[in-house]
Amino acid sequence: MAERDSFFITTPIFYVNDVPHIGHGYTEVAADVLARWHRQRGDDTWLLTGTDEHGQKILRTATANEVTPKQWADRLVENAWKPLLATLDISNDDFIRTTDERHEENVKVFLQRLYDRGYIYTGEFEGFYCVGCEEYKQESDLVDGEGEFAGQKVCAIHSKPVELLKEKNYFFKMSEFGPQLLKLYEEHPEFVQPASARNEVVSFVRQGLTDLSISRSSFDWGIKLPWDESHVLYVWIDALLNYITAVGYGQDDEAFARRWPAQVHLVGKDILRFHAVIWPALLLAAGLELPKHVFGHGWLLVGGEKMSKSKLTGIAPTQITDVFGSDAFRYYFMRAISFGHDGSFSWEDIASRYESELANGYGNLASRVLAMIERYFDGAVPEAGELSAADRVIVELVEAVPTIADAHFAEFKINEALAEIWRIVDALNGYITEQEPWAVAKSGDRERLATILHTAWHALGALTVLLSPVMPKATAQLWSSLATGDVRDVIVTEAAEWQRVALDTVHAIEPLFPRVDASTVPETPVPQH
Ligand code: MSP
Repeated sequence: MAERDSFFITTPIFYVNDVPHIGHGYTEVAADVLARWHRQRGDDTWLLTGTDEHGQKILRTATANEVTPKQWADRLVENAWKPLLATLDISNDDFIRTTDERHEENVKVFLQRLYDRGYIYTGEFEGFYCVGCEEYKQESDLVDGEGEFAGQKVCAIHSKPVELLKEKNYFFKMSEFGPQLLKLYEEHPEFVQPASARNEVVSFVRQGLTDLSISRSSFDWGIKLPWDESHVLYVWIDALLNYITAVGYGQDDEAFARRWPAQVHLVGKDILRFHAVIWPALLLAAGLELPKHVFGHGWLLVGGEKMSKSKLTGIAPTQITDVFGSDAFRYYFMRAISFGHDGSFSWEDIASRYESELANGYGNLASRVLAMIERYFDGAVPEAGELSAADRVIVELVEAVPTIADAHFAEFKINEALAEIWRIVDALNGYITEQEPWAVAKSGDRERLATILHTAWHALGALTVLLSPVMPKATAQLWSSLATGDVRDVIVTEAAEWQRVALDTVHAIEPLFPRVDASTVPETPVPQH
């Protein structure tokens, strides 16, 4: 058997200080759609996600809630973060917590290696820190505070005052890696994507890199440095290392060789620098291979602003799935937002796409085709006669789309891949309207009727294979009326040959996307200032 391509994809690991909102759900769904597509094209796929549990932010939240940070993390992981994955049908292969022993132990292995290679030294740190970002800030990163913080400098992202730190820390010699990183971006323009993200990273590194403080000694909720237990590791370095500790770094060389380097780290654009600058510098220092791609996706905006709970625009994923279901959540965000750019969410928009694209577009198509085969041929799928030009258009489209969609997915153009697949939905609906099988049935031309319904049935099956990574529930439901086995076992690039596993007889089905009562759709919130 030919060796399968490895496709190791990661999401950021989420802070457990709070519960998830649709911005987190968006990253998970994008990673899951890519993972499912690659799994279904036969790649050796591994989807990793998890939680980021150390650091001051979690410690403070736990203290405010009068529990230990570990108790707090356990509670949030079980009650909020793992349920998010179930809500959105995420097919992750692993879930790493930074409090896992496999993580903590092998982070120490990595740190010792950096230390032994001479990339770590002691120094005096003096500067600003934002606990919300868990990030050291330059003065140029700060803005003037408003309201209760008027007259103070605050973090531009959290609008809260930063803290002035002055402590003895360990430093990583990141400044040494500037030239190597610039060479990397130059020789591998595909390393940071999309291009706008790459440009931002390149101009940041061109300004020159400073060394990075990698430890804290004023609190102890973190991983202790192996050579000095009075310091804990800076939470971002701890978090980044999950990408290798989860796949065996330090303890299982075979697993590590199989998965690493990752094909892609998907991250929100706010955490791009950590992944495209600090992370490759750390890996270079340790002499490890670099991930193939870091992809920075955009923000979900609500009322024109980055969605945020403090501005009352935060929306929980279950609010959407309770009304429209998880498939619609997945479809909507992947289709409506150009991946890599910001995109606006509104309840009106999802409701209208649900109705026109899912209920009337794909769902109704499936119902009509199966109902007509049942009605005119007692459910026995008819053979096609000679093909007309109109039939051939459909047949050729079904043969062409899988390869084109696959190429889009390979470039992380999820919305373009979906638009490509949707050409079949639109073409097929147009075809049925124009061919009027009901009129052909009346005319008594059985052969023509058979050809039309066979063509439509074949396209519908291929479509269902191609949409399975995006809408696993509806496609599985429809598949059970069309074919034997699991739709996920049909290779996506061979979707046009799906009828090898087709059932001979089919039956009419319940609507895949039932009508939603408009009174259950909430109003889109407006940001409060
Ligand atoms: N713990 C760090 C990541 C460490 S990865 C080694 C972190 N966690 S987070 O929970 O704050 O954010 C996780 C992801 O959610 C980030 O990719 C972030 O960009 C994404 N989003 C948070 N709000 C978002 C929107 N409003 N829109 C889109 N994505 C958003 O950062």
